Amino acid sequence: MAVRVGFVGVGYIAKEHLKRVLTDPEARVVALCDTEPAAAEATRASVLEKLRGTAPEELLTPFAKAPVHTDPVRMFQEERLDAVFLCLPPFAHGEVEFAAIEAGLPLLVEKPVALDLPLAREISGALRAKGLIGAAGYQSRYSQIVPFVRETLGDRTIAMTLAHRFTKLPPRDWYRHQDRSGGQVVEMATHQVDLLRLLVSDISTVYVSGGRRIATRETSEIFDASVASLTYANGAVGSLVTNMVSGHGNPAYARGIHIIADGLTVSILGHEGESRTVEVVTADGRQERTFADDSMAAQDRAFVRAVRDGRPELVLASYEEAVRTLATTLAHQESAETGQPVRIDTPA
Ligand SMILES: NC(=O)c1ccc[n+]([C@@H]2O[C@H](COP(=O)([O-])OP(=O)(O)OC[C@H]3O[C@@H](n4cnc5c(N)ncnc54)[C@H](O)[C@@H]3O)[C@@H](O)[C@H]2O)c1
Repeated sequence: MAVRVGFVGVGYIAKEHLKRVLTDPEARVVALCDTEPAAAEATRASVLEKLRGTAPEELLTPFAKAPVHTDPVRMFQEERLDAVFLCLPPFAHGEVEFAAIEAGLPLLVEKPVALDLPLAREISGALRAKGLIGAAGYQSRYSQIVPFVRETLGDRTIAMTLAHRFTKLPPRDWYRHQDRSGGQVVEMATHQVDLLRLLVSDISTVYVSGGRRIATRETSEIFDASVASLTYANGAVGSLVTNMVSGHGNPAYARGIHIIADGLTVSILGHEGESRTVEVVTADGRQERTFADDSMAAQDRAFVRAVRDGRPELVLASYEEAVRTLATTLAHQESAETGQPVRIDTPA
């Protein structure tokens, strides 16, 4: 039996998930919910236009006919669902998760899973108490890059990491408000932080300088440039450098993550959602390998299959791990605001 999926929040990232879930024969998208129904309809039209002629009609028809709700609680009560994708803006978490958990629904929640750590921990506890699968939208954990880098590093000692995220301010009104997006590291460079936690170790201390210079100067709310010193729990050190003023382009060195270990350097060049190259430098020379795997498709299929077969271990980016990453990015924000180093307490 196919997994009956509902979507709450049907904007930009929901479109990316829909394009993938609608080509998974194990899933049927049967209900949509957005406080702005016109946004959901626009997303639906654009996805159907893209997939018509390529995806099987039996997968597209339920989606084409899916009712559009404006109240998630009613959607959970009125529709027969097996799982829900929550593609909400960062500020909109809380009530929707509790209502879904109350209805017994497994969740895939887009990152950042909340802007408030106690709330995220409460949701994590509620998922655990009900034995429900909780997944988070850290699709890089599903990329073939992860096993490749792990194998390349083996058990070598890692000395340091460098990570960059240089980009432009995304065109969403909520993005420029601190209490709505959480700022660049909580909202976006969280992907880098999560991957570093996975490949290196938990981060135990952050010490950050933040600047508000260009992209958000009218509101002066969020930092548009930051430089962070990281100390990992395993003793490695690192830097995370971000900005939202580089819409004009990036120099080659300023893309992705570099891990410097005993006898080799591994660089993951590019970001999630792009074809990425991994470069390995040793005393013998330099090797490159390109990865064009669709990690979001792998993530979405893994979630659907985990729900269908009752196999939570297929979820590689759990809600609990997302809470630990949130603890780290919120500590980054606190350090940027106070100018003080912040220690991170990461139990989920
Ligand atoms: N994994 C990734 O690579 C990736 C990429 C982009 C965005 N995201 C994340 O996805 C989330 C959504 O971002 P987006 O760019 O799609 O935003 P968006 O503004 O394009 O879409 C969000 C939608 O949610 C709706 N909405 C808001 N509050 C709601 C509520 N209470 N109930 C129902 N609908 C509600 C809005 O009307 C809007 O249509 C963010 O957390 C963002 O960080 C993840």
